[in-house]
Amino acid sequence: MADNMQQLNVIGLDQAGAEQVGGKLNQLLANYQIFYMNVRGFHWNIRGERFFELHVKFEETYNDLLLKIDEVAERILTLGQQPHHTYSKYLENSAVKEASNVHDGRDCVENILNSYRAVIKLQREILAAASDIDDEGTASLMGDYITEQEKTAWMLTSYLK
Ligand SMILES: [Fe+2]
Repeated sequence: MADNMQQLNVIGLDQAGAEQVGGKLNQLLANYQIFYMNVRGFHWNIRGERFFELHVKFEETYNDLLLKIDEVAERILTLGQQPHHTYSKYLENSAVKEASNVHDGRDCVENILNSYRAVIKLQREILAAASDIDDEGTASLMGDYITEQEKTAWMLTSYLK
């Protein structure tokens, strides 16, 4: 952009736009933190004849969420902002709500599917906002997550049929 009035941040992105994207990434981080803790609870509390299968599956899921939590937080820092790091902020900012004492495998899988749907929706919004300011780093990260999680959503939906 040739606009001389435009403020650029340290990686050459429009400052105001990067702040907006960073704010949305903080929302995403909050969702992932609650989602992560919910799935840890499912891993611990699952009961019934699918215990062995789901106990392992949930561990795989929360380990993946943990990687994304760190990637999202470090992307916020790369954009020159501060990732939230308190549970009170996460609870305030998360569309995914806390799930406690869920023991039934189907209920756990349904909850996970709905949480993926919530983060996919938010990631699509972030991708659009990032593309608007030529923030390819954030846009491609969101694109990777969306592609992967859409496939996961298909598999979880198949499980529930
Ligand atoms: Fe464990």
